[in-house]
Amino acid sequence: MNMSPMSMPDHPSRETLLAAAATVPVDQINVGQPILFQEDAIWPYFARLRREAPVHYCPQSEFGPFWSITRYRHIMQIEANTEVFSSDVKYGGITLRDQFADFVLPMFIAMDPPRHDQQRAAVQPIVGAPSLEHLERLVRQRARAVLDDLPIGEAFNWVDRVSIELTTQLLATLFDFPWDDRRKLTRWSDVATALPGHGIVETEEHRRAELLECLQYFTRLWNERVNAPPRHDLISMMAHSEATRHQGPMDFLGNLLLLIVGGNDTTRNSITGGLYALNKFPGEYAKLLANPALVPNMVPEIVRWQTPLAHMRRTATRDHDFEGQRIRAGDKVVLWYVSGNYDEDVIADAERLIVDRERPRRHLSFGFGLHRCLGERLADLQLRILWEEILERFGRIEVLDEPQRVFSTFVKGYSTLNVRIPPDQVKARA
Ligand code: HEM
Repeated sequence: MNMSPMSMPDHPSRETLLAAAATVPVDQINVGQPILFQEDAIWPYFARLRREAPVHYCPQSEFGPFWSITRYRHIMQIEANTEVFSSDVKYGGITLRDQFADFVLPMFIAMDPPRHDQQRAAVQPIVGAPSLEHLERLVRQRARAVLDDLPIGEAFNWVDRVSIELTTQLLATLFDFPWDDRRKLTRWSDVATALPGHGIVETEEHRRAELLECLQYFTRLWNERVNAPPRHDLISMMAHSEATRHQGPMDFLGNLLLLIVGGNDTTRNSITGGLYALNKFPGEYAKLLANPALVPNMVPEIVRWQTPLAHMRRTATRDHDFEGQRIRAGDKVVLWYVSGNYDEDVIADAERLIVDRERPRRHLSFGFGLHRCLGERLADLQLRILWEEILERFGRIEVLDEPQRVFSTFVKGYSTLNVRIPPDQVKARA
């Protein structure tokens, strides 16, 4: 069989997708297909690209032509060269899918210096030492409450009960968002990254309408805070900084969605991915249960193994030769973190989660350089505290079946992970 991923039936099975990876000619490989991610079939395609064509051109895809960068070191080189490889929204944005020209959402992740640096500085205090100290206490209290409320001996969806709930609570705190409405944040995050027609929103119009509701809701909060004394939440920070105080409504919506998606999907999918990975590698789970002091080392390893954002994209501002390939001005260049994090030339035994891996922070999940994730320390804090509290309470939490994965080439995550806490795994506590 010589079936190209470009000519597959509408809903090919995982087996079909995996088998095709071995036979498709390399110049026809198209890793920009959400189905490959949803079916968890992407791995052999990236392995081939790293080996045979690490700077690879896909001439045709549902998102147009694009270059794929799949080796760890090449991704760092491109990220460091911000003059040639721009993030600016005027070239189409930071994901494989271009922003729509009639619904442009400027946000500082999709800006080049100096505007990027000024707007990033406006919200930087959220990850300063006083903020993290304050959040540590709150995050612990909330993790305890969520874990103490879990059913014992019954199947439940870990994604909804734990991952979504905890990340949504943290986000509501960062925005000082009305508590009872907090699941609106989850919804807007899902809508922001959804591909219409795949379960979350039916049409692009529907997507935009919901995002405008988000803008309306937050505008009310902005209006309350802009004339009040500065407070320590993300909206107040933007309302009181010169760099963001005068931003237009679409810039406000853009930055909100950046902070909502940045703080939500990513940590959510690391919480789910961690439990899933420990069940896949029971020997590692045993190591962790025997030695809970491994948690701070395990957290960045989970973030690598999961790679919650599969890629970021840049656009070439001029013709440029890179590793023997001529990249033309205007070309999309996709940095596949999910492949770089599994590059065996840099990370040994990369397919395994290794809870005591040496140098676990050596990964690309948070990006590199100028745009490196602002929320890294928040994510670290959330995951570390959650795992400390889980290990206080429970032994092995069982994953009951394979997770359902999200249909996206960008958010690499899960919609369902069914688990059960066996009664004999609940620890007696004083
Ligand atoms: C495991 C959790 C997380 C992962 C994997 C992650 C991943 C990323 C990645 C890949 C980037 C782009 C880096 C680049 O282009 O080089 C980024 C940027 C960003 N992230 Fe995160 N993120 C996480 C958690 C968070 C949290 C909790 C927040 C808090 C609100 C956050 C806010 C941001 C912001 C604001 C940016 C833009 C930074 C800039 O352009 O200067 N992230 N993140």
